[in-house]
Amino acid sequence: MATLASIRTSPNKIEIINQLLLPHTTEWLQIDTIEQAHDAIKTMKIRGAPAIASLAALTFSQYLSRALKADPRPPFLSSPEALKSQVTLLVDFLYTARPTAVNLGAATRRISRKLQASIDAGNDVLSMAQDLVEEGNKVADEDVGRNKEMAKCGGEWLVKVVKSKGGSGEGLNVLTVCNTGSLATSGYGTALGLITYLHETGKLDRAYFTQTAPYHQGSRLTALELQTLKIPSTMIVDTMVGSLFQHHDIHAVAVGADRIARNGDTANKIGTYNAAVLAARHKIPFIVVAPITTVDLDLDDGSKIPIEHRPPLEACIVRGALYPPSLDAQGNKQQAAVMITPEGLNGIYNPSFDVTPAELISAIVTEKGVAVKGADGKFHLSGIV
Ligand code: MRU
Repeated sequence: MATLASIRTSPNKIEIINQLLLPHTTEWLQIDTIEQAHDAIKTMKIRGAPAIASLAALTFSQYLSRALKADPRPPFLSSPEALKSQVTLLVDFLYTARPTAVNLGAATRRISRKLQASIDAGNDVLSMAQDLVEEGNKVADEDVGRNKEMAKCGGEWLVKVVKSKGGSGEGLNVLTVCNTGSLATSGYGTALGLITYLHETGKLDRAYFTQTAPYHQGSRLTALELQTLKIPSTMIVDTMVGSLFQHHDIHAVAVGADRIARNGDTANKIGTYNAAVLAARHKIPFIVVAPITTVDLDLDDGSKIPIEHRPPLEACIVRGALYPPSLDAQGNKQQAAVMITPEGLNGIYNPSFDVTPAELISAIVTEKGVAVKGADGKFHLSGIV
């Protein structure tokens, strides 16, 4: 099955697909420095919580690996203390690129933990740095395998739930929000992985997805992924979720997550909460699919999740190819950003994420299995992290 990728690596080279130009132009951008990685994440050339964590970790590994080969070596490789302060500086800087996606924080914490373990073991500074290179690469490598596990667990769980209500467990229709596939991860995806799994096992009738304004992860990216995977799909405008639930047999909503608090409250792309409220009204299972690194046990509930607000201008413009299509000198479809508001409009509210309360969530699927609420009506995520 053909798939898309957000990141490709070869020896000494990291490239990302520029998601600002998809689906009309495929442009690979080489990422050579920590600053470039930070900028690509902040400007959303790459996005999706697991993908940005992977890019941060890979770029960090590349930085250290180049430092180890440099002649002369940079001063921060002269002592464990100097290495620690440089690593702290870099990982803290990378984590500031997007504040809601905790996977980025989990990746940077993992690197810091590895460093501390290496210091405690009394390793010499060069082998410490080498350990960190490997740890950074592992963050990205481990993503695809766990996505497949989550997809299978979540898919099988949904089939069981549908059967328990008297359904056949086949011909399932699943709505998703935003983009959670290969472009948002290192491969296969989270919620879109679950949908892909249902398709591969012959259980899916159709995937529905919202356009996901204002960045349009749905219409630009999920549409392209579903088309590439040849999964039957229908796009809806964000405001049509209620209508869809009233007029179509939807068996589940499956979404990804940027951060899940200890009690299960989940931050995900803006519009997720709306879909959850409507799903509850229509008694449709609402499933969150995310790796364990998305669970933040330090936060008791969703009220503490930092919500990123994007620049107001991003809510005033729509990007895309000119229509009817016209080609530039390189044969690429010409693209434009079009303003859809009067110039100088003030008072624009543009949070990138919202928080869906745990009470509206039926299941949280991670690589460790499917978490559902206990007899007390609450998730107990500390038991699985
Ligand atoms: O702003 P984005 O595009 O990075 O937001 C992405 C989402 O909200 C995804 O649903 C989430 O990161 C999970 S991706 C597997």
